[in-house]
Amino acid sequence: MTLTVDVGAPAQPISPELFGVFFEDLNYAADGGLYAELLQNRSFEYNATEQASWGPFSFWDLVKTDGGDGQLGLGDSRPVHPNNPHYLLLTVLTPGAGVGIANRGFDRIPLEAGKTYDASFWAYQTFMGKKWGGPGTDQKQPMSVTVRLEAKDGSVLAEAPLTVSGRAWTKYTATLTPSRSEPEARFVLVAHQQGGLALDMVSLMPRDMFKGHANGLRRDLAQTIADLHPRFMRFPGGCLVHGTGIHAYYDWKDSIGPVEQRQAQRNSWGYHQTLGLGYFEYFQFCEDIGAAPVPVVTAGVCCQHAGDSPGRGQEGLPLAEMPAYIQDVLDLIEWANGPADSPWGARRAAAGHPAPFGLKYLGVGNEDAITPEFRERFKLIHDVLRARHPEIVVIGTSGPFPDGTDFVQGWEFVRQEKVAMVDEHYYRSPQWFWENLTRYDRYDRAGAKVYVGEYAAHESDRRNTLRTALAEAAFLTSLERNGDIVQLASYAPLLARRQHTQWTPDMIYFNDTAIFPSLNYTVQKVFGENRGDAWVSTTLATVPPGTKLAASTVRDSRSGDLIVKLVNGEAAAQPVAIRLAGAGKLPATAQRTVFGGPDADVANSDGTSPVVAPRDETVPLSADFTYEAPANSLTILRVAGAAGK
Ligand code: AHR
Repeated sequence: MTLTVDVGAPAQPISPELFGVFFEDLNYAADGGLYAELLQNRSFEYNATEQASWGPFSFWDLVKTDGGDGQLGLGDSRPVHPNNPHYLLLTVLTPGAGVGIANRGFDRIPLEAGKTYDASFWAYQTFMGKKWGGPGTDQKQPMSVTVRLEAKDGSVLAEAPLTVSGRAWTKYTATLTPSRSEPEARFVLVAHQQGGLALDMVSLMPRDMFKGHANGLRRDLAQTIADLHPRFMRFPGGCLVHGTGIHAYYDWKDSIGPVEQRQAQRNSWGYHQTLGLGYFEYFQFCEDIGAAPVPVVTAGVCCQHAGDSPGRGQEGLPLAEMPAYIQDVLDLIEWANGPADSPWGARRAAAGHPAPFGLKYLGVGNEDAITPEFRERFKLIHDVLRARHPEIVVIGTSGPFPDGTDFVQGWEFVRQEKVAMVDEHYYRSPQWFWENLTRYDRYDRAGAKVYVGEYAAHESDRRNTLRTALAEAAFLTSLERNGDIVQLASYAPLLARRQHTQWTPDMIYFNDTAIFPSLNYTVQKVFGENRGDAWVSTTLATVPPGTKLAASTVRDSRSGDLIVKLVNGEAAAQPVAIRLAGAGKLPATAQRTVFGGPDADVANSDGTSPVVAPRDETVPLSADFTYEAPANSLTILRVAGAAGK
């Protein structure tokens, strides 16, 4: 078998944003995941529509110390903001050493000694003394409160006294620095006099967050994503964008502004989303990691499988509501790109980002059935976007599958409407990926560009095997070859919290303190680290039919390096005669990275340690050599300064 790289031939440009990530709040990816909030149900908005056993006090306990007594109630008549309708009413009947509430976070709250944690809550005094007053009750007396971090054995790791005073909702803050590390802490807030408090937005955030932003992201998880070197990030979902029914879609406007004013929502994956991680935080994260933001809005229809209308199929927004919906989409563009003195640009500036975010892409729809309802609403949105924002690349949809009726009709519709880019999704077997390496070689170069918005190789038992990772690696070589037409590609899903996973396989697993990247993550990272801006003619020849071998070569004009990628999906090593034609004078050595192992069935799903890791070595180089590609492997050969023209 031979692999010929024609270094002298004209190279074909690759989309600079080819490899990116797709973030969806699925598997507790946002709350309990990337969003650094440590308390669960901080705004008392959990309810039984999300999970049958949930209610406003879920994940909270009533705390009564040293003979103290009291009770919890739910308030809704005087909320901190109409978008945040419920709050907790704490009544202290007998203060003891304090009566209040405790929260154990998402599974538990891990604390690190010496690190700073910012506690905050909103509160007002409902009454003092006895509820209905009476002799000796001084209604003007403030309520003293303690916020505290406690170890599992009840010992106090840090505490701060505060005084709640008055009838106006007020934000109170305290800084807590635990005296020792504790894997299973709890947060406690107790009041010390007979009386009552209204409490909402009770929060505990680590000071140490990614890039130090307020209301920020969990540092280790954000860094693990950044390490992929993603050139774009699609958010906030997939199915999540649709929500659970036609009027329950993810409304980007609910996700911006002060966190206590955001409208928390049932997550269509069966839990709660605070929207604390909202559009501002998504855009800011994109900027921090050098990724183009790719928000997705609905096409004015709900998912054909929407949870609130099972069996009813897709429903569309009433046409009378479409102008307002389209205005929301236009407002998003102004919020992202408008000047700081425009109405929506001013809101971005008020959040701390006066400069435009530079939005270039906008997804409209996700895996929608291509029905008359869909077509009508998509066209209404698309026509306005084309007229008002020709600079925005609109990404349409081609249904849920890589073939079939919706796919065919979706593409016909895209051609008819001249949509700039189409989102294709495929969750298929490793074999399917190997059999589809030429899929994009046949695409019309004059037609719409492609965004492979969601893909993953799926074993029948949905494990993250080496076999799946290599099938994806092979596929990525075909995307590099077709980097003129495939502009964006992202594996899905990205994140999964152990024990809170609705979908497998995923790229990155995590718990409260640790990250467990999958073998599939390694492939994504290796491709991100070895991306190029042009594809160099690469030909595999004399490969026996059916042999799982794939290759591509890219040129990285930043470094001047030539990067050859070779994937061997066979269970045996494959000798490949490699020829670097027309390369001119080559360096004596190259950097070689090899990732793989003898057993394609090894897996590291859901938290097991990586069983195979990339090995880097310096190897001798010549223009013609034979390389024994190991069984089940991805090999990267990086040749410094050999990129050619
Ligand atoms: O990635 C998980 C889900 O798969 C997405 O939400 C949806 O678009 C697809 O069906």
